[in-house]
Formats: sequence, structure tokens, C-alpha cells
Amino acid sequence: MKFTSPRPGQLPNNVHPPYKSTLARGPHQPRVEVLSRAAADQSLRLTRSIALRDADLTSQGQSAPLGQAITVSGRVVDEDGRPIRDSLIEVWQCNAAGRYAHVKDDHDAPLDADFPGFGKMLTDSDGRYHFKTIKPGAYPWGNHHNAWRPAHIHFSLFGNVYAQRLITQMYFPDDPLFPFDPIFNSIADKAARARLVSRFSLDETVSGVSLGYVFDIVLRGRSATPTGI
Ligand SMILES: [Fe+2]
Repeated sequence: MKFTSPRPGQLPNNVHPPYKSTLARGPHQPRVEVLSRAAADQSLRLTRSIALRDADLTSQGQSAPLGQAITVSGRVVDEDGRPIRDSLIEVWQCNAAGRYAHVKDDHDAPLDADFPGFGKMLTDSDGRYHFKTIKPGAYPWGNHHNAWRPAHIHFSLFGNVYAQRLITQMYFPDDPLFPFDPIFNSIADKAARARLVSRFSLDETVSGVSLGYVFDIVLRGRSATPTGI
């Protein structure tokens, strides 16, 4: 199978000096293509480890977490628009106050015992996924003076085999922190960056319950959603 390579600037710079930790941890050698048949044959069989509750991040505590309830939904497709079916998506995020339920997060913002901040789901036969959560807050980080991350949700996408695993981040429309965030701007191509931003949808909004956001993901090609961030 022949794949279309992304154009320069469509993927994040592995070493992006404004994003300081990439100087130490970014790869300095060219990437190595992994095309072994063995890797491609490791089909995922994870359906038994997924429960419906895993796609509702607001139902994993004793009561509803604090914050604005939202749903996120979309399709995962390949470069030709074909659905990626029965594929594992994992998501993780901070709480509404901008703090992760993680031992290494020392941001002075309140933890929410009702919000672990982790979910997982499978795409359906049309490549669609859907989960409920709360809108994450912005949080400060030590990259530079007054550095704050735009609100985001981390995504892990497996495609159909382990060797295809990709990581990306979903953002929210019109975030005022976009121009100042070196992670978001490590992707040089403006149109590619825009593909990381979800769109608000009144159709996906549940009356009286949650605001709806749509985030479609293209795994390869010239219209690919940037990954590796
Ligand atoms: Fe994050």
C-alpha cells in the first residue's frame, strides 16, 4: 500500500527550541520506518477491556465532577476517508481547574476526587466515537515566563494495529492562549494546526446537559491530523 507523505510543517517539529524540553528529548536522528509484516499483523483485540462507563468521564466518581459538562464526538478515518473501525481511543485530561489527577502535577489548583480524567472507547463500524467529560481548564507550566497551556484533551489512537499508535491533542475553538503556546505552534503549517481544534456543534449539544464538540481525526496523508504532540 502506498501512503501520501505529509508536507513539511504538517507535523510538529521534533526539536522546537521555544518548547524547551524538546531540545533534550527530541530525536536528533532521522526516523526509522517500521514496516515489518509482524508488526502489521498484531491486530488489536481489546474489546473485552472496554466498558460503556469508560466513555463517560463524568461518572467515574461518587458524584458529578465540577465543571462544564461536554461531549466530544467525531470520526476516525484514513487518508481516503475510509473509517477506522473497532479501534481503541484513549483520552486523558486535567480537571476543570487545570490540574491532573497525577502525582507529578503540583499546580496549586484543587483536585476533584470525582474526576480521574481518563477514558477509553472503541470506534464503531463507521469510525465514529463519542465520550462525555467536563471541559478542561488551562494550566501553567514551566516552559517560560507566564506559560499556560490552552485547554486540551490528549488522545491516543491505535489505528488497527499496535504499530500504528499515534498521540495528539484536541483543542477548543478561539482559545486566546493559542498564539503563546509553543506546543501548538510547533506545527508550522497553519491549516494543519487548525485541524487540532474541535468545533462547537449545537446539534451535538444535549439540551440542559452538555455542550457538544466535534473532532474528526484523519490518520494519514495531506489532510492528516497532526500527531506526535
Ligand atoms: Fe496536557
